[in-house]
Amino acid sequence: MKKLKAILIGAGLRGITYTDFIAENRDKFELVAVAEPADSRRNYIKKKHALSNGLCFTDYKPLLEKGKIADVAIIATMDRDHFEPVMEAIRLGYDILLEKPIAPTPRECEAITSLAEKMGSRILVCHVLRFTPFFVALKEIIDSGKIGEIVSISQIECVGNEHQSHSFVRGNWGNEAKSSFMLLQKSCHDMDILQWLIGTECRQVQSFGSLTYFTEKNAPNGAPDYCIEGCPVGETCPYNAVKLYLKSDSDWFRSASTKMVNPNDDDVKKAISSTQYGKCVFRCDNNVVDHQVVNLLFDGGVTVSFTMCAFNKGGRTIHIMGTKGEIEARLEDNKPIQIYTFADKAVSEYDYAAMGGEGQAGGHSGGDEGIMEAFYNYIANGEAGKNICTVERSLKNHYIAFAAEHSRRSGAVINVEDYMNSIKNEEDYSI
Ligand SMILES: NC(=O)c1ccc[n+]([C@@H]2O[C@H](COP(=O)([O-])OP(=O)(O)OC[C@H]3O[C@@H](n4cnc5c(N)ncnc54)[C@H](O)[C@@H]3O)[C@@H](O)[C@H]2O)c1
Repeated sequence: MKKLKAILIGAGLRGITYTDFIAENRDKFELVAVAEPADSRRNYIKKKHALSNGLCFTDYKPLLEKGKIADVAIIATMDRDHFEPVMEAIRLGYDILLEKPIAPTPRECEAITSLAEKMGSRILVCHVLRFTPFFVALKEIIDSGKIGEIVSISQIECVGNEHQSHSFVRGNWGNEAKSSFMLLQKSCHDMDILQWLIGTECRQVQSFGSLTYFTEKNAPNGAPDYCIEGCPVGETCPYNAVKLYLKSDSDWFRSASTKMVNPNDDDVKKAISSTQYGKCVFRCDNNVVDHQVVNLLFDGGVTVSFTMCAFNKGGRTIHIMGTKGEIEARLEDNKPIQIYTFADKAVSEYDYAAMGGEGQAGGHSGGDEGIMEAFYNYIANGEAGKNICTVERSLKNHYIAFAAEHSRRSGAVINVEDYMNSIKNEEDYSI
């Protein structure tokens, strides 16, 4: 079995997830270097992968200045920090596992995709939903023809109120200028999975949405800037940072807020006293939407209604309506997928949880392990599995998000291809 040497750029939550997989699959991968400014995270990787000091960097530049020292680069920096390291890694001849979104603007996405094509660099974009047993099962059912041809889909991405507050109000993705717009950063997964399930191209989009709740006007009377200073509604507020970060056992929230691996209570206390993670959710610098709908028209008249919304517990629901039957399913409660067929008026069940085994309980409902396996097979064995999303395909699906966001801002119904061509002719085609 060929062993792939890998470098990691950005050892945050995503980078650590992928390299923890490497640590458990040392027959397939070997991590040989890391670039990460946060000491705790870099040291975690150094220890776990027994790296020498000379191969641990605080920035991606000196690591890439070493030339091509491995087969693959895993790039998991923040959205706005993808472009430069990806371009340089392509120039050096790396094959790449790239976190989504490819980049926040069409111009950067185009530049990455065309340089990769020119240099023959294979880039897999981390659309992890394609590797979850849930969506694999849905694809299988659709492709079996059991429900006939797809006519319409209704999909809801329930972000979850706590997740919204953590990631899209207080955290990394709350402010578009520091990350990207919501439909790209969060729901590019959904645009991608819908296109993958339907299997044809999206032609037109229309979107509405706004930021309604997590704004200054909803701040309770007397609420301090930081929850830890003592808020009059602290007992009942679902977003009290002391409860969510300090008193919680969520590794995710504690680690993200401190940028540390296994932080202690003092570390968390420090983070919620001085960073946005401790701020009143109504007094942050967030500006991304907390709810958005998109109507999509695909080839053959297939229609989709997609909703992203913060105000729920979390999860994804999907209703796929075909000429011979329908599928109803909810990701994240492990209940079997329900299939109703018109000819026999029968309901059958598909137990996707049984497919996943260990992976089902893993990150992103099994998707994180799945994408690493697929990345290995793609690069080491040249096997482009049917779930993989190359940068070329991902770029097209990113354009659905770019066009939909343009619709949200302009109020117009947008023809995706015309939009793509029109902005390509603009001097600076940022969204
Ligand atoms: N595929 C998915 O489902 C999924 C889920 C969450 C996030 N993401 C994407 O993954 C990416 C990373 O997200 P995350 O949650 O791991 O964020 P994160 O903030 O935890 O990790 C980013 C890391 O990059 C490091 N970094 C910053 N500047 C650097 C530099 N110059 N050189 C090297 N490293 C540098 C940061 O210190 C940080 O540790 C984002 O683009 C995000 O949108 C994807």
